[in-house]
Amino acid sequence: MHPYRIGFGEDAHRLQSGVPLMLGGMEIPDSPHGSTAHSDGDVLLHALSDALLAAFGLGDIGQYFPPSNPNYENLASQVILQTVQARIGDQVGRTEVVNVAGVVTLDRPKLGPYRVSMQRTLAELLETEPSHVGLSFKTSEGLATRHVQARVTVLMHAPDLAS
Ligand code: C5P
Ligand code: MG
Repeated sequence: MHPYRIGFGEDAHRLQSGVPLMLGGMEIPDSPHGSTAHSDGDVLLHALSDALLAAFGLGDIGQYFPPSNPNYENLASQVILQTVQARIGDQVGRTEVVNVAGVVTLDRPKLGPYRVSMQRTLAELLETEPSHVGLSFKTSEGLATRHVQARVTVLMHAPDLAS
């Protein structure tokens, strides 16, 4: 069996003024709005976590953190990612990220100035190099101004799957 797995994940949350905008494990400074959610609303980490689970056929984050459960209110999305990583470790053994590519759709603010910090933050969370983390930012051309959306693809190497 080939020891590689590809995963894809997607997430979107409604925007609300006056709340922090969390994306890719960091807060975007001076944003006019942030995303509302039962967690900190980091759509990029949610899409990434789903992509990792999908790579190994392990479902999605809603199974581990049901939105209906009040215990998960204000949950840090890094905890979701760490839980997913631990679950994959239990089920699959050793894994490494070959590379990851994400797209964030958001009309404002401009995210380009934060790309390098976000690559570094995600690389640290994924124990890979910033150059293995691709990030593109898109506007919706004014067609979807009320939400922020992320899509993520990940390629994983899982050497124990080869045997
Ligand atoms: O969506 P559009 O193609 O018009 O975006 C043009 C460019 O603006 C993108 O390629 C990206 O570099 C940048 N951008 C950004 N932050 C956003 C949306 C777009 O930096 N929130
Ligand atoms: Mg979410």
